[in-house]
Amino acid sequence: MEYEGVASSSRGKQKINRCLLIGIITFLAFAIILAFVLVYTLKKEHGPRETVLSRCQRYLDANPSASSVNDCERIWSVFEQAYVGKDPCDVAPEAYDPLIKAVQQKVPCNENLFWSKTNEMAHALTKNRNCLMTLEDTLLGFMFNGLTWCSKNGSKETFTTGCPGWMECINPMRSFWIRASANFAATACGNVSVMLNGSINSPFNPDSIFASVEMQNFNPATMDSLRVLLVTKETDMMTCSNKSLMDLQTLLSSGPLRAVTYTCRVIPHAKVKNCIDDLEIPCSDCW
Ligand code: APR
Repeated sequence: MEYEGVASSSRGKQKINRCLLIGIITFLAFAIILAFVLVYTLKKEHGPRETVLSRCQRYLDANPSASSVNDCERIWSVFEQAYVGKDPCDVAPEAYDPLIKAVQQKVPCNENLFWSKTNEMAHALTKNRNCLMTLEDTLLGFMFNGLTWCSKNGSKETFTTGCPGWMECINPMRSFWIRASANFAATACGNVSVMLNGSINSPFNPDSIFASVEMQNFNPATMDSLRVLLVTKETDMMTCSNKSLMDLQTLLSSGPLRAVTYTCRVIPHAKVKNCIDDLEIPCSDCW
């Protein structure tokens, strides 16, 4: 009788343990499935397509004049066709030709601002002042600025990790910026400005995108002048007579751009900062 009691209580315990184990396993399986679903949904919501589409819409909302001629969904689809399914080391700048055609925007003459090694300062300025516009302030540049993308041979996907480095090969990102920069330069008109960094030895670097792509694509038929804004800090010894700037001037005067007037001005860093912070200062007094 006593034995029966002990046996039934141990059976009861075993049953409870089994139930507990099944419960834990079910809970864990449920948690794992939920985690997968969550990761998949979040990835879908914050994937490159969603980022580009949301940036595109935001830009068009803020710039109504560009909104009737640009279709964000179409832009994304044309963009993808440049690199999806391709070897990430074999996407040439020309692959983006259809994208360049698909994005419609005219930068007003006299407002193009090019830059080299002055990324932060140039964009801090154009963020607050609408008298100048960089490539990254146009719809095309704004949509893709700071993003990473590539695909693989035969794949239908866009990856944002594991893509080749900037200098590694003819990759989708570098080719995009080369093609977009070439177009920004080719369509520049009137008095064009470039902000160069007076704190480095060679503000005009032949390997930069500005020198190797943009300068090569300037159109002498639409451009009147190139104005170098050489931003220097107090302790810098830099002047417009710097060897690299002489090279820039020679490049202009000895080729198809010889009719384009060259000017160079040293602008103290503090003055640019004042122009960024104090909107009362007219743009014309900034340089
Ligand atoms: N790795 C990753 N990105 C790079 C690298 C690199 N090694 N080199 C250049 N870049 C990208 C970065 O996005 C960087 O901010 O190019 C940008 C500009 O590089 P800079 O050397 O400062 O300037 P430059 O090469 O002259 O390009 C700037 O190109 O974006 C257009 O119109 C724009 O006039 C501007 C010019």
